[in-house]
Amino acid sequence: MRLVSLIAAIAGLAAALLITPAVAKDKSLYERLGGYDAIAAVTDDFLDSLEKDDKLGRFFHGVSKDSVMRIRQHVVDLICAKTGGPCYYTGRDMKTVHEGLGITKADWDIMVKRFGETLARFKVPEQEQKDLAGLVVPLEKQIVDHAS
Ligand code: HEM
Repeated sequence: MRLVSLIAAIAGLAAALLITPAVAKDKSLYERLGGYDAIAAVTDDFLDSLEKDDKLGRFFHGVSKDSVMRIRQHVVDLICAKTGGPCYYTGRDMKTVHEGLGITKADWDIMVKRFGETLARFKVPEQEQKDLAGLVVPLEKQIVDHAS
């Protein structure tokens, strides 16, 4: 009987070892990031760092607090939706909303750096950072004004 229990325990452990990584991998990026509140907190920190940045702050000069919060909500919804969360993005597409702002490649590179700093501040694990970068990096061609 004790041998049966031992075999059952070993089988249980083996099953757990086999199943746990598969379950973790199956979780959406939204879940792995910690859900809506975590995404909202990261977005707030990120936008705050852009507004305070010497070079990027100019994009938010003369923009009311309410308008900044509207942008913020769209960014939260976009990340939530793109990472597999239960949100629906109602904002404009990335090309339309950034067209005419004159965002240069140098601005883009600063933004990427600030984004990385925010993720580090929140101790977002390496895999999730890579997965987020995979969503943001391809947006460059829609957001950067390559003529400027
Ligand atoms: C250097 C990089 C960027 C700068 C300087 C920038 C700046 C801005 C500015 C000034 C607006 C307000 C435009 C307006 O309403 O007239 C805006 C809106 C927005 N941006 Fe960006 N942005 C940058 C990158 C990004 C990236 C990487 C994302 C996506 C993760 C993003 C997502 C959005 C969203 C969702 C909105 C609001 C859309 C809407 O109102 O319908 N932006 N951005």
